[in-house]
Amino acid sequence: MTEKAQTNPATANDRLEVTVVVPTFNERANVAKLVSKVGAVLTGRQWQIIFVDDNSPDGTAAEVKAIATKDPRVQCLHRMGRRGLAGAVIEGILASAAPFVAVMDGDLQHDERLLPMMLQALQADEADLVVGSRYVGGEDADASALGATREAGSRFANWLGQKVLQVKLSDPMSGFFMIRREKVDDVAPKLATDGFKILFDIVACQTKPLRTLELPYTFRAREAGDSKLDNGVVVQYLGLLTAKLTRDAISPRFLMFAMVGASGVGVHLVTLKALLNLGSGFATAQGLAAVGAMTSNYLINNAVTYRDRRKRGFGLVAGYFKFCLLCSIPLAANVAVGTVVYERGAAWAAAGIAGAVVAAAWNYVTTSKAVW
Ligand code: GDD
Ligand code: MN
Repeated sequence: MTEKAQTNPATANDRLEVTVVVPTFNERANVAKLVSKVGAVLTGRQWQIIFVDDNSPDGTAAEVKAIATKDPRVQCLHRMGRRGLAGAVIEGILASAAPFVAVMDGDLQHDERLLPMMLQALQADEADLVVGSRYVGGEDADASALGATREAGSRFANWLGQKVLQVKLSDPMSGFFMIRREKVDDVAPKLATDGFKILFDIVACQTKPLRTLELPYTFRAREAGDSKLDNGVVVQYLGLLTAKLTRDAISPRFLMFAMVGASGVGVHLVTLKALLNLGSGFATAQGLAAVGAMTSNYLINNAVTYRDRRKRGFGLVAGYFKFCLLCSIPLAANVAVGTVVYERGAAWAAAGIAGAVVAAAWNYVTTSKAVW
């Protein structure tokens, strides 16, 4: 029997209507269930589902491909050498040819029963974007599923997001939505691939505000596997907000890197003072303080700024030496640039800042290429 003969003739339509994009990392146990749930709610519709898997060690991609051999509506976009939720979602959407695309988690926490309602609203041209919202209408059922700290962080992020976006979205952090595909294509080159907040980014990048609809749902508890998002995502998100506020003049990663650098200055001064108090000579104390600052900068950058490419084990040690080597070079440049500016008669503070800016830019550009 052909695919077409299986669909209900009353609603049959040969054109692809919607692509469901599902980013996955270690979701092997959830894939088959999700496909059958999505298939059940979209009966009579022309749909496809694209899993975007970052080569999960648990073999999620193999599981998707096994299902795909029996059902051509299921596809696997198997990515190598990259990690990251936003990037995965963007690539999945760009791989779609359907007029509408949905984005949904692969862990069954999102309620698939919203999909037909979302599609209907978009096809009826009632909206350009339909968001599954955990915070609109009804009581807050998701507090327990998310955990108290994440819940508070998520609410704070939402509040801030609304201030910056000036779009009335109760859940701009939602990972569950359906959108007219061309609205994403329009802004795709501008989207950040390294964050988690893809919906926020898509909305913030639009030149003409999107007509938006929100549908409430209850965020379910995860049954299998673990969450990959933690409190670090809130910090990352603040970076994305700044990028939007400065119209992308400052990338979230550079901002994070600069903030870590500033914290390094603090580490440097505290260490210097402590060592001087212990009776160490200035040169020794200054040298040790610089090493301390570089070490803490390296570890924080590895854990936060480059959390999507985090190094562990031997890679962590090798990266550390490269990082220290590269950051030592602008120390000299810092002094040189500062001196030139100073000799031209600028105030000492301006000269100091000029040197520091050059050093920060150098450190950022070189270490992002050579270390992470
Ligand atoms: N391809 C890929 N690459 N997928 C990823 C990655 C990655 O690096 N990291 C996470 N995922 C997938 C997961 O496998 C899952 O399908 C989905 O993205 C969401 O990840 P979870 O780890 O389950 O996130 P959560 O449940 O803690 O977070 C929820 O709340 C966030 C808002 O606070 C989700 O609904 C998010 O979408 C939402 O933004
Ligand atoms: Mn989840």
